[in-house]
Amino acid sequence: MLFEQRTNTCGELRAADIGKSVVLNGWVHRKRDHGGITFINIRDRYGVTQVVVDADSPRELLDIAADLKMEYCLSIRGTVRPRPDTMVNPSMPTGEIEVKAERIQILSRCAPLPFMIDESTDAKEDMRLTYRYLDLRSFSMQKKIRLRHEAAFAVREYLVGNGFYEIETPTFIRSTPEGARDYLVPSRLYPGKFYALPQSPQLYKQILMVSGFDKYFQLARCYRDEDSRGDRQPEFTQIDIEMSFVTREDVLTLVEGLMGHVFKKTLGVQLPAQFVRIPYDEALDRFGTDKPDLRFGMELQDFAPFVDEHCSFQAFHEVVTKGGTVKALVVPGKADYSRKQIEELEAKAKVYKAHGLAWMKVSPAGVLEGGASKFFSDHARIIQDLGAKPGDLILLVADEKKKIACTALGAVRTQLGKDIGLCDRAVFAFAWIVDFPLFEYNEEEQRWEAAHHMFTMPQAQYHDSLEADPGAVKGDLYDLVLNGYEIASGSIRIHDPELQKRIFRIVGMTDEEAQRKFGFLLEAFKYGPPPHGGIAPGFDRLVMLMAGETSIKEVIAFPKNSFAVSPMDQCPNEVDERQLKELHIKIEKEE
Ligand code: AMO
Repeated sequence: MLFEQRTNTCGELRAADIGKSVVLNGWVHRKRDHGGITFINIRDRYGVTQVVVDADSPRELLDIAADLKMEYCLSIRGTVRPRPDTMVNPSMPTGEIEVKAERIQILSRCAPLPFMIDESTDAKEDMRLTYRYLDLRSFSMQKKIRLRHEAAFAVREYLVGNGFYEIETPTFIRSTPEGARDYLVPSRLYPGKFYALPQSPQLYKQILMVSGFDKYFQLARCYRDEDSRGDRQPEFTQIDIEMSFVTREDVLTLVEGLMGHVFKKTLGVQLPAQFVRIPYDEALDRFGTDKPDLRFGMELQDFAPFVDEHCSFQAFHEVVTKGGTVKALVVPGKADYSRKQIEELEAKAKVYKAHGLAWMKVSPAGVLEGGASKFFSDHARIIQDLGAKPGDLILLVADEKKKIACTALGAVRTQLGKDIGLCDRAVFAFAWIVDFPLFEYNEEEQRWEAAHHMFTMPQAQYHDSLEADPGAVKGDLYDLVLNGYEIASGSIRIHDPELQKRIFRIVGMTDEEAQRKFGFLLEAFKYGPPPHGGIAPGFDRLVMLMAGETSIKEVIAFPKNSFAVSPMDQCPNEVDERQLKELHIKIEKEE
């Protein structure tokens, strides 16, 4: 079908265009009939323009106007004219003008809509994902997809400007099961063999360093078969970065510059030139998490000094006697919290294995009351040392294991931050978490495992004592956190084969196993590998936070739902018997 092509977009016309003959292409956003006059708001990616079909228009035009429904796709020719004074809309960029329609072509019709295309759609998520193309038409989604595009462009602009090459690495790779589960792709040519989709380009980017591409980046698609969450998808995008001949400082400085550029370019927000650096142990101690939300204070405080001879709280005494930890959280102005509200917080603490959540309140007269207050006599000292004020709520967790006491109360802190409105979406609080332990002890399997990955460099001062005390070793690894989310993770890598072998041994990996899993990397490392390190900011999470959202699905054009399904194209799905046969695959039906 021939159609008249637009002369202008639907967001473009202003008072200066009055008198012009124009053609607009777009969708029917709204339609109103006012006593024979039809108002059609026509929409495209750029905005909305009001089109008017006057009552004295030719019959043919009036008939077409009467026929129009929501989301019909149109071409409209007409003349730009000023709106009557009473109809000027200052909140609309095109609000001073309207287009008097002279011809309307229906380019295509639209079936009844499953939901209204609107910024505040309350359609259920699966409905939105089933009709994602309609959902994406809304201005709010268009804005987020545009933000993502602009952020990607700014990333490339900054890194290319700093001498980085963007190099693609394969998406069919060897399966090296670490971290999450791999997605596998069966090979037709080699029955019984599989490619894996990369969980990240980690090994390839390290090999690129061996090849001499000393500054590499890639907006890399990554695939992980793990449970979905608000900030997790089975496929996602990383700003994958690797550099040679660098120290930790170089990587951190580069990413600070990168974030500064991206935020300035896309949001007009000026970030600090440097982000605070918090050692892992300190983050756990002060915030009970390695991804603290620093938009608010409300730090955890040490309560053990108050569990003294004047304290009659047996459970707390036991913990302290056994060398455990007691942590306190002062919640400003929340002495009016009900028992039910406190129980909800306690449930949160219990998810993190706390036995319970003790509480007391500071009365208007400045004394402790309720809950655990009866176990303590020196109220004034507690109130003063904790910096509590009348009307505050004090929450306490005690546990033999420091990590449990801290993480449980830390989770309560995070929840309270949301509940009492301390998380301003327009504030961006970045921090580096550094000095992570290199190894974590796996209680179930009774063995040490790498906290980040096997190729992370132990800090130099621990090189002699790796085997003697693995738990004490700090790694040259770092996370970037933003508003309570881990948005990037990276490390300086090991390039010395002897040191690498020692790490394998500590995590209980035999030479054969290491060869089988990473042989190609170890082989490459025989040929003059440079010292190198890198990082990978999660691009979806970054854009999610920039957009003020709490789910990465909001910034991905076609995400999977919480069950790893795409409701639009119904994937995953069965395949033909013939396809299975070619791949030598037989499906065993579950009983
Ligand atoms: P890591 O596994 O920590 O490190 O991932 C880096 C960042 O990627 C993001 N991310 C995710 N985003 C959405 N959905 C997911 N399922 C998901 N998983 C991770 C997070 C995370 O901080 N190769 C190393 C990096 C390196 O050492 O250079 C790696 O992948 O924002």
